[in-house]
Amino acid sequence: MSSTVQDSTYRYGLISRCLHWGMALLLGWQFFTTTVRVLMEDSALDEFTWGTHKAVGTLLMTLILLRVIWALINSRQRPPALSMAARLGHWVLYALMLIIPLLALLRQYGSGREFAVFGLQLMSGFEGEIEALTAPGNLLHGWLGWTLLAMIIGHIGMTLYHRRKATEQDVLPRMAGKLND
Ligand code: HEM
Ligand code: HEM
Repeated sequence: MSSTVQDSTYRYGLISRCLHWGMALLLGWQFFTTTVRVLMEDSALDEFTWGTHKAVGTLLMTLILLRVIWALINSRQRPPALSMAARLGHWVLYALMLIIPLLALLRQYGSGREFAVFGLQLMSGFEGEIEALTAPGNLLHGWLGWTLLAMIIGHIGMTLYHRRKATEQDVLPRMAGKLND
């Protein structure tokens, strides 16, 4: 495999970058749908944007699984975290990106309702409800979602801090700079 595709100790490779920026865009859309929901419920815009929330969320679930696998494959050849806090911060981002859609999909299954995204039937539905699957999602999905948004804002803030402050190492080129070896 070409080495620009994989990560190296001084920059992220093509696949990590596609996953990082592609998921950032989709998560941006996801938070747009929830913000419209909160501020303009039942408007025409809300009807359209909210109609995409479950499908985009399911796509994000698939992408985070691929991202975890890719991170494991590249674990010995990724740029080292600048500090323990940065390493922990990235771990929490990963955990939230995994748990949030997982709880929602478990809730969806437990509701007993049929579920299809992008014309693909994922759950066929059944009579009744499994409360052990719906309760965790009802309790935590939304709150953890807003927590992820706060963490993302912090993550962007730290990237800009490292970039602007002369005494810090600029890490943006690792994720957005030239891809040459
Ligand atoms: C939805 C939004 C975002 C999420 C969930 C996210 C998450 C992550 C995660 C988990 C990493 C660790 C490497 C990886 O596995 O990809 C990372 C790295 C990085 N992200 Fe983001 N990110 C987001 C948006 C952004 C944005 C908007 C910027 C630019 C300001 C940015 C800049 C970076 C940089 C520079 C790194 C490399 C950090 C280093 O190696 O120390 N991220 N991001
Ligand atoms: C990473 C992906 C996802 C993110 C970041 C996310 C984020 C959020 C947030 C922040 C809320 C709260 C909105 C409010 O306060 O009114 C919410 C609500 C909701 N989400 Fe998601 N979501 C994701 C994936 C999914 C998936 C995959 C489904 C279903 C299959 C789903 C179904 C729902 C439903 C039904 C609600 C309204 C009930 C509730 O607040 O729990 N979401 N989502």
